[in-house]
Amino acid sequence: MPIPVIMDCDPGHDDAIALVLAYACPEIEILAVTTSAGNQTIDKTTLNARKVLSFLGCGAPVARGASKPLFRELIIAPQVHGESGLDGPALPEPTSPESPMSAVELAAKTIRECDRGVTIVATAALTNVAALLLAHPELKSKIERISLMGGSAVGGNWTPAAEFNILVDPEAAQIVFNAGIPVTMCGLDVTHQALVTRADTERFRVIGGRCSTMVAELLDFFVKFHEANFDFGGSPLHDPCAVAWLVDPGIFVSRKAHVDVECRGRHTTGATVVDFGGVSGGAMNVDVVTGLDLGRFIDLLDSALRRLDRGMA
Ligand code: RIB
Ligand code: CA
Repeated sequence: MPIPVIMDCDPGHDDAIALVLAYACPEIEILAVTTSAGNQTIDKTTLNARKVLSFLGCGAPVARGASKPLFRELIIAPQVHGESGLDGPALPEPTSPESPMSAVELAAKTIRECDRGVTIVATAALTNVAALLLAHPELKSKIERISLMGGSAVGGNWTPAAEFNILVDPEAAQIVFNAGIPVTMCGLDVTHQALVTRADTERFRVIGGRCSTMVAELLDFFVKFHEANFDFGGSPLHDPCAVAWLVDPGIFVSRKAHVDVECRGRHTTGATVVDFGGVSGGAMNVDVVTGLDLGRFIDLLDSALRRLDRGMA
């Protein structure tokens, strides 16, 4: 039985690749996609999500979510993802309309109607997920797990202390981590090891089909910011980690922890405070992912693209 999933995202190059991976893997069934502002404005991230799903031939509904964080002004990341939020490949216009429902309405309906627990894959600020939990606490018991990209046990990427998704909406993140739902946290601890190189991009490009070519073109743009600003020797494929952990958790290493979020610190707002030792007394409901087998991760992406290009997804 595939894992029923709601993808909450802000495409965004790595979000787009996470959508590609989720659609390609038989272990995952995408029931719905909801969008958040973050990498770009809500208009752009929603259009991008619709373009990617149409390109893939995925019929899942796409509903627009929050245009800004719960209490704060929006920050966006055009320097990473470009003015469109998905600069690089020329994707055709979407072939299906945006859902008339809001992200919270679509997610609630999807969870209510699913005959099994639903897993939320959250690869953006957690505004939509927090809003869902606040509006529909009765649905918490039907959320199997939240596999998210965000935070870190050590250090940030947007400030010295905070990772971008958490920093955009720290209050939302605090609500989500403290909701008592099992969480898989794919933070920078693992995503800064999930490095895709130019050689990997060429490995995908030579597969030679439309999906592998599109992903290679996404990576051609995505590497620019990371090569100019980091010396990792590759570009961190953040969001696909949150999908890959569901598909094959054996690729990853994780540790149980309680996680809370700093919302007031002058230098530390947006930091995830990771309590591996349980000294806070908080629920140890988070699997903090700390490592991966990079070769198996890249192989998973490669086989997903081959499957899509053979029309087998
Ligand atoms: O910090 C990386 C995260 O912020 C990723 O999800 C990326 O897409 C951006 O949303
Ligand atoms: Ca994202």
